[in-house]
Amino acid sequence: MYTTLLTTIEAGTMIITINRPDKMNALNKDVIEELGAALDEVYNNPEVKSAIITGAGEKAFVAGADITEFLSLGADGGAALATKGRNLVFDKIENCPKPIVGAVNGFSLGGGCELAMACHFRLASANAKFGQPEVNLGLIPGYGGTQRLTRLIGKGKAMELLMTADMIGADEAKALGLVNHVTALEELLPRTKEILQKIHTKAPLAISKIIACVNECADGDHHGFDKEIKRFGESFATEDMKEGTTAFLEKRKAAFKGK
Ligand code: COA
Repeated sequence: MYTTLLTTIEAGTMIITINRPDKMNALNKDVIEELGAALDEVYNNPEVKSAIITGAGEKAFVAGADITEFLSLGADGGAALATKGRNLVFDKIENCPKPIVGAVNGFSLGGGCELAMACHFRLASANAKFGQPEVNLGLIPGYGGTQRLTRLIGKGKAMELLMTADMIGADEAKALGLVNHVTALEELLPRTKEILQKIHTKAPLAISKIIACVNECADGDHHGFDKEIKRFGESFATEDMKEGTTAFLEKRKAAFKGK
């Protein structure tokens, strides 16, 4: 169905693999459009409870936006490219009501680092390398990199990485809070799936509310505390809340329905 992606659904998790390994899985126009369509599936297919985004091969997650598409663009074209990517992919990942995790299996540069950062959280294999090398090309990040990197690792370190174009390894990325876990390459997908399986046992509507609340905080929303109270209240009106609390009192496992 897709020409630049491989997708499978395993135990409720849709695994989206960007599949241009000979081009380091660079994000060209087709990848952005197909990622947009695959994300629509994640949103709309009730069988899909979560998603993983990863790259094909053992070298790259995604080595950036496809640089071959840049030379013909002017100011309006550049802005349009970034806006399209943001709407079709990056913001859609961040705001997805189902968890989406980045499994970073190699170079995660430029748009690749931005793609990983749009995910709700990230795991990296030991060979992963992160960086925002846009200044080497006379550019700056356009898929949210200046914003999400600063939120994730803080202003000073973000400034340095963005200005030097330095690459950092998986352990440093973990120390900075850019990734949550570092694994051997062969353990990356199993470990990511395992975390998602644990999340699948929790109440889906509560998970969606967590995503919305945490995103609002990260966005600097001044009404985050009030919105948390509103969603907390709404949780009491769900069947899942009755099921979760009853199951606790009856000393059994809850069976949530996402209602
Ligand atoms: N856009 C388009 N093509 C890319 C690409 C990108 N972002 N990143 C890699 N490729 C292509 C290379 O041009 C090469 O294609 P070719 O075989 O037709 O010549 C192929 O992928 C393999 O890359 P190569 O550079 O030969 O591999 P390497 O192992 O020597 O280096 C990287 C790997 C990731 C360090 C290097 O490819 C690189 O620096 N890529 C660009 C990173 C970047 O600036 N990203 C930000 C873009 S905004």
